[in-house]
Formats: sequence, structure tokens, C-alpha cells
Amino acid sequence: MIEELEKIPNSFVMRDGLDFKFYASGSWKKSSSGKTIVIKNPYNDKIVGAVQACTIEEADKVITMANESIECWEEKTQRERADILMKAANLIKEWANPLGYIMMKEIGKPIKSAVSEIIRTSELFEATAEAGLQQEGEAIYGDAFKGFSKDKMSITYRVPLGVILCIGPFNYPFNLTGSKIAPALMAGNTVVVKPPSQGAISPLFFGLILEKAGVPPGVFNIITGKGSEIGDYLAQHPLVDMVAFTGSSETGKHLASVVGMKPLLLELGGKDAAIVLNDANLELTADAIVSGAFSYSGQRCTAVKRVLPMPGIADKLIELVKKKTLNLSIGDPEENATIGPLISSKQCDFVQGLIDDALRKGGTLLCGNKREGNIIWPTLIDNVTIEMRIAWEEPFGPILPFIRVNSAEEAIDISNKSEYGLQGMIFTENIDLAFNIAQELEVGTVQINGKSERGPDHFPFLGTKSSGLGTQGIKYSIEAMSRPKGIVLNLSEKGKLIKECKYD
Ligand code: G3P
Repeated sequence: MIEELEKIPNSFVMRDGLDFKFYASGSWKKSSSGKTIVIKNPYNDKIVGAVQACTIEEADKVITMANESIECWEEKTQRERADILMKAANLIKEWANPLGYIMMKEIGKPIKSAVSEIIRTSELFEATAEAGLQQEGEAIYGDAFKGFSKDKMSITYRVPLGVILCIGPFNYPFNLTGSKIAPALMAGNTVVVKPPSQGAISPLFFGLILEKAGVPPGVFNIITGKGSEIGDYLAQHPLVDMVAFTGSSETGKHLASVVGMKPLLLELGGKDAAIVLNDANLELTADAIVSGAFSYSGQRCTAVKRVLPMPGIADKLIELVKKKTLNLSIGDPEENATIGPLISSKQCDFVQGLIDDALRKGGTLLCGNKREGNIIWPTLIDNVTIEMRIAWEEPFGPILPFIRVNSAEEAIDISNKSEYGLQGMIFTENIDLAFNIAQELEVGTVQINGKSERGPDHFPFLGTKSSGLGTQGIKYSIEAMSRPKGIVLNLSEKGKLIKECKYD
């Protein structure tokens, strides 16, 4: 695998190992701070590399350059922008293995999932190029309102917003950065990316990929540094026209409070509940629950985070889920173990705190509650009540509570009392009832007989309440990252002008 890495030109890798520069105005630069942020593998604590700890002055320069580059990018035709994204998609696919390998090292994602995240991103670039080419405007006559006629016509088309600041999360550092970059560029914006500190290395490759694909200098930039030092400065910068962020609800709310009058696209936390009715296909349900709860050790905003089973199937379902959970592989992401390290020991402490609270308050431990390094064994807790923190808080770790319920109404009530509203699930053979319940759930999306998940990436993806703001998904993101521009034609004396237009 390491040999494959060598295929990637190393002009931006500093001589003393995997120390990465940042990418601005088409070149790789070292920060004037002289400081770097060291990134360690969460599985074994070994150093993976380091990225630049950029300064506020550098952040200012990068944004200014992105702003000055708007014209050259906006002037490109839709076709030219789409072709560039297609080229980028091919490069991403070509480098899927080495990029996945780097990501596996820096965030502890199982190697297979890391590589498939890269391939998913390549597909997303292609689909974004295709969707961008389908963009349409509209023409509307004024005569729908009294006092107006067809002499008044509004013509609208979409224009870019300007500079878009894209802040990605650690859990999908490549895909959830790419899912912002591609629509932003396709819509004609310039981009400044600020990756998460843990997970900063793989998105840096977008600099290389987009440059090779033909993005002109200054149009795409990526600046690394501590969120606490440059995050607010970047988001508040007057030349930043939109902030697209994926991360915790806490940080999302903070951003919303500091950016002022800027459009925001926020993808935040979740507490997705699986409601399991008495007639559910339990094998299918248990498979969906286990994979939904434990992929990437539960570090997904869309992970299954609560199960609300009805009395008729609760025991059987819980037994099945336990059996399947005990079969999960645990250990090294390089060996593709499903359960690997959490991103930090601080996160492990938080998850452990949730387990301890539930057990102290009478929850029944079914399996797990074991920790080695940053790995927490998949933990199932039965008889969880609404007094326990785990009924409401998002763990971002491998812990799944069962809150037994007696009716669909009770399940809806517990689902909706959450501060989050990302997704919900209903498992049943009764589609009418499923549809009725789905209509009552205060979430962005309800999955019927399937686990909660964002993809496929052309679906609308959104959250209510603390789960987010705005809608993502290929065409939705392009729309969010552009705005309609209206030009109104006021025709006068139409009939007269036609009559007068004679040439004899
Ligand atoms: O955690 C971020 C969220 O977007 C998850 O995506 O594809 O795992 O459902 P996905």
C-alpha cells in the first residue's frame, strides 16, 4: 500500500516526512507560525504526519485571494466547470487506495470503508457535474396578480454566492469535504476549506487533485490550523459569503451565533431512533440495527442511536441484536475490524460516562462496557429509561440503548422529545402504519425497513432542530450554494410597437 502512495507526486510533502503544507493560490506553503499540528493514529498513537498551524494573517490572505479569483471561475462555462469536476472524479478514483490508506491511519476508519468513502466521493463529483449541467432558470409572467399583465416578466437564473468556507468533520474527512467542494465549484463559487485537525491530511489532497483537474490558482484553497485559533476568524470574515459546516451541534450553534447575515449549511448531530413494531421482519431489522449502530464504531451522525421495540418482539429482537453484535470484529482498522478506535481518549471518556450513568440508574448491560486504549467494545444496554443520559445524548461511539415502549404513540413521543431531528426508522410489514408514523416524526428523513443513512448522495439530506440547517444532496447543495438572480422585463406599448414595425 505504501508503494501506491509513492505514485502521488510529493511536491507538497515536506522533506522531513509526512509534514504537509497548506494549499493557497495554487501553491503549497509553510505557515509563518513555524508551528504544526501533529496527527496521531487513534489506534496506536503513532505519528501519521503533521499539518500547518496557520495564522489569522494567512487565513485573511487565503480568503482575499479566493475573493479575487471569483471572476476567473465565474467566467468559465458550465461545461468547462463540469469537465474539470469529471477529471477530478477520475483522479479521486485512481488514488482511492492510497488516499483511503492515509485516511485509515489518521482517523482509524476500517480500510475498506475508508477506500469506499473515496470512491463514493468520486461518484459524487461526477453526479454533481451532471446535475450542474441540468440547472435551469425560469420566466414568470406578472399576470397572476391583479393589476399586472403579461407585459411584466421576471426572468431568473442562478448565480454563485462568492467565497464558500467549507468545514468538514473528522468522521468523513474526504467525503464530507468533497460534498461541499463539488457543488460549490459547480455553482461557480470559489472555495476555502478548513479541515478538522484530526482528519486534515486526506482532504489536503483535494489541492493536488483539483489543480491537476484544471482548477485555476486561487479558486480552490485549503488552510489548516486549530479551529479555536482560526475557525471564528474564517467564518466571520467579511469576504466569506457562505459557511458550509459538518460537525457537532455545539459547534454548529456557535457558528450560527457568530457569522451574522451569511447563509449557512449545517449538518450536525443526531439521535436517530429505530421504532420496531410487532410485525417487523426481525432478521432484517437486527441486521440493519447492528450495521447502523456500529459501522465506524458508531461515529456517524446518522448512526442508529436508540431502539424503541414494542413488547411483542422486544426480547426476540434484543437477543438477535446481541448475537450479531457479539460477532463484530474488534481491533485494527488496517485489518478491517468493524469496531476500532474512537477518535480520541476524551471521546472514550465521554462514552464511558454515558455507559456508567445508564448502569448506575438501572440499565441492564447485555454486552460490552470494556475499554482498551481508544477502543470501546460494542455496548448494548437494555431497560433504558428516559431518566438516563443515553436516552437523549449523542454518544458518537459504539453504544446502543433499548428503550422498551408499549405503543406507537409512546415511540413517537420519545422520538420527538429529542433535541435532534436527523432521521428516524420504522420497521414493520404494515406500510400504511409505517407511513402514518413517518408523518408524525419530527426529523429530516424517515427510513422504512432500513437503517438511517445519508446516501445515496442525490437524496435530500437534512435535519430539523439541533440536527442542522439547510438541505444537502447533489442538486440541493448546488441550489444552497447559489442564489436566484431576477431580471424583470417591463414591456410597454407591445401592440403599438408591433403595428409600427413596418419596412415598406
Ligand atoms: O456523520 C455524518 C453523516 O453524514 C453520515 O453519513 O453516509 O454514514 O449516513 P452516512
